[in-house]
Amino acid sequence: MRALTTLSFASLALGQQIGTYNTEKHPEMPIEVCTAPGSCQKEATSVVLDSNWRWTHVTSGYTNCFDGSEWNTTACPDGKTCAANCAIEGADYSTTYGITTPSSGALQLKFVTKNDNGQNVGSRFTLDVDVSKLACGINGAVYFSEMDEDGGMARFPGNKAGAKYGTGYCDSQCPGDIKFINGEANSEGWSDGAGKYGTCCSEMDIWEANLDATAYTPHPCSVYEQTRCEGTDCGNGSERYSGMCDKDGCDFNSFRMGNKEFYGTGMTVDTTKPVTVVTQFVTDDGTDTGNLKSIKRFYVQDGKVIPNSNTNFDGIDPANDVTDQFCEQQKTLFQDNNYFGKLGGMGVMGKQLTKMVLVLSIWDDHAVSMNWLDSNFPTDEDPSQPGIARGRCDPAAGLPATVEAAHPDAYVVYSNIKFGAIGSTFSAN
Ligand SMILES: *[C@@H]1O[C@H](CO)[C@@H](O)[C@H](O)[C@H]1NC(C)=O
Ligand SMILES: *[C@@H]1O[C@H](CO)[C@@H](O)[C@H](O)[C@H]1NC(C)=O
Repeated sequence: MRALTTLSFASLALGQQIGTYNTEKHPEMPIEVCTAPGSCQKEATSVVLDSNWRWTHVTSGYTNCFDGSEWNTTACPDGKTCAANCAIEGADYSTTYGITTPSSGALQLKFVTKNDNGQNVGSRFTLDVDVSKLACGINGAVYFSEMDEDGGMARFPGNKAGAKYGTGYCDSQCPGDIKFINGEANSEGWSDGAGKYGTCCSEMDIWEANLDATAYTPHPCSVYEQTRCEGTDCGNGSERYSGMCDKDGCDFNSFRMGNKEFYGTGMTVDTTKPVTVVTQFVTDDGTDTGNLKSIKRFYVQDGKVIPNSNTNFDGIDPANDVTDQFCEQQKTLFQDNNYFGKLGGMGVMGKQLTKMVLVLSIWDDHAVSMNWLDSNFPTDEDPSQPGIARGRCDPAAGLPATVEAAHPDAYVVYSNIKFGAIGSTFSAN
């Protein structure tokens, strides 16, 4: 590592260096690959903290390149020079970030800080979650994003850190608060916590949830790999439906779809207890190469398999899975733009799902207080109109300042991640 740093110092324009103060050691989180019920094999996988959460300092010492809100303009006159001058540091997972492995195959994320990613893809996905300590306004999320497996090292020679240091993040919101994109710092035009560029890619939200609400949501994009955006392509504000990605996605949230007694404290899926979450990706011909036609959801709790709740609206055919028809009908009734369908819907999503990176996180929402998940959204519309009410939470409960002060000890535990053929990863007692 030291040799690499010295080398790039001597050569001029390389970038996004590796710091040498802390050795990077990934927490182990084995996941299981299954071929038939009871026939699963553990794979020796581990998780890595996203580079955005890491200390970013000059390669020659302890001086910050980024102090938490602003870039040092001496070290960072422009993105390329900044990437050459600055290093991202190895992480102390438990002490600094509250990321621990309470038992083999389990990962606990504290609310104090956030984020992680591993990798993998399967036609079927199971995991156990404990959301009992996640209050309104906090989101414990498990999703796939179409990042480069190597964190972008091969495509962007300016990136010397790579997947080992959690580089290359992207998602369907085309986030602009990412410090390094395409091997360059995103320092130009940095204001209010975002630079001039965003980083886009398709995303499959398997699980976004807290004690009171949950949703699973495909978000396709017009691009098939991590892609840097600028201007209209980022889909900001009034250009939301002109960007590369479907920021809304096509969500299945049981409460929003009309069953208000299904998910929550003491409900059919009782969030005071751990639950196994099953997601099935079903193709039109039943093979891995077929076109994706449906994304199904089951829960397993206390040895009982609980199918997802059904939709309950005139204008939407009863369904408990996500399909192109469900999305079309939902968007029409809720008067939402079907950008999901315009970008190719399930067919495109299915193709993008073939090479995804698994991301586990815990977060609060500085843009809209998580109201889109667990409260009324948009907040200024009548909650009795179809699609506005998404959960029981008070819209004010999710304000980051409020939730961080009220629930600093919140955490989520993810465990027993398994993937494999349909029917292989879970069974009832
Ligand atoms: C910015 O970086 C330069 C050297 O790279 C350093 O001398 C200076 O102290 C830094 N400024 C701040 C405010 O940290
Ligand atoms: C638009 O979005 C990108 C990424 O999402 C962000 O970085 C940028 O600052 C935003 N604003 C403008 C005016 O482009």
